[in-house]
Amino acid sequence: MASPSDPPLFSSYQLGPMTLKNRVVMAPMTRCRSTLPGEIPNALNATYYAQRSTAGLIISEATHINPGGLGYHAMPGIYSDAQRDGWKLVTDAVHEAGSLIFAQLFHAGRATVPELLPEGMGPVGPSPIPIPNGERHTPQGKKPMPTPHELTPEEIEQLVVDHRHAAEIAKAAGFDGVQLHGANGFIINDFLKDASNQRTDAYGGTLEKRMRFPMAVLDQLIDVFGPERVGIRLSPLGEHNGIRDSDILGHFTEIFQALDAKNLGHLEVLGAPWTGEKNDQVNAAARANFSNTLIFNHAYDAQRAHDELAANACDLISFGKPYIANPDLPERLRLGHPLNELADPYTLYNVDAGERGYTDYPTMDAANA
Ligand SMILES: Cc1cc2nc3c(=O)[nH]c(=O)nc-3n(C[C@H](O)[C@H](O)[C@H](O)COP(=O)(O)O)c2cc1C
Repeated sequence: MASPSDPPLFSSYQLGPMTLKNRVVMAPMTRCRSTLPGEIPNALNATYYAQRSTAGLIISEATHINPGGLGYHAMPGIYSDAQRDGWKLVTDAVHEAGSLIFAQLFHAGRATVPELLPEGMGPVGPSPIPIPNGERHTPQGKKPMPTPHELTPEEIEQLVVDHRHAAEIAKAAGFDGVQLHGANGFIINDFLKDASNQRTDAYGGTLEKRMRFPMAVLDQLIDVFGPERVGIRLSPLGEHNGIRDSDILGHFTEIFQALDAKNLGHLEVLGAPWTGEKNDQVNAAARANFSNTLIFNHAYDAQRAHDELAANACDLISFGKPYIANPDLPERLRLGHPLNELADPYTLYNVDAGERGYTDYPTMDAANA
């Protein structure tokens, strides 16, 4: 019987012009360790990503594309020259350590609070519909998410421009590509799903119109990087940040087809394994309708990852939480070595935790030394 230590999880993979040394992807994870003020990536972030360059491909934590897109205190941005220079430390360190890194481009949309944003700004969205019981941690404590401002067509067009600018910064900073954050109830996801997008203009009403803004953004990213170096992350079944849709399988099948028509380089599907058959149906629809690189994510271990790849259900598997505590994750998976446990949850998203629970997790070698 094939075991998880056999290829394909540890075989190389060709993503367009890029050769990945294995099929293990580090999933995007916000860790809130940027330098303030200015939300600037720094040397500590470079160490963290270099340690995890054991992955064939790293997707960076979410990076906000403009000041109003910030969703978490001390998350790094990707619009200023200082941020570009900070990211260069990260991309150089990752390349030096033998991996590849894409920037995840993000705008919080309605999932943020005015207390985190520059003076006079607040959450925005396709429609003035708040996240039910939405709250966000801030340095001043938990704050409720107010009703978002309904974006005007001109503001939507400006957001497209801001995404392009972020992609240009990412390219100048040495990223190998970009992934558009289209999951988890942030702005792209809000436009796609019909519960959060109830517009009646060119950006809402039909699925084609709901796709208009996300597709316009992708066109700009492709224009900057070329299609092979651009991807999107979607969470069709996810309900994070109060996101809902009336026909998930039908709508997302069409969305997968539209992405395929753009010849997009990759699609990452953040699954909902607890939904069982529904999860299988969405994953199968992604494989059937999207022909380029397909990445599956959520709660994978070595055996499940192996089984999906062996069945050719997808091309790559991304790991989130296991990568936080295990910088040498692929080797541990290959050897069946026990994984380090996650430390104090306080260290997950906390700029004040610094190195703690961030760059201080031991490798197998260090632990055995
Ligand atoms: C600390 C933390 C931060 C996260 N930040 C992001 C993020 O910035 N962007 C994103 O798309 N998903 C984010 N996620 C979701 C993960 O990428 C992943 O989808 C989730 O953890 C499930 O995969 P896993 O079971 O392998 O952990 C985050 C998850 C965690 C635990």
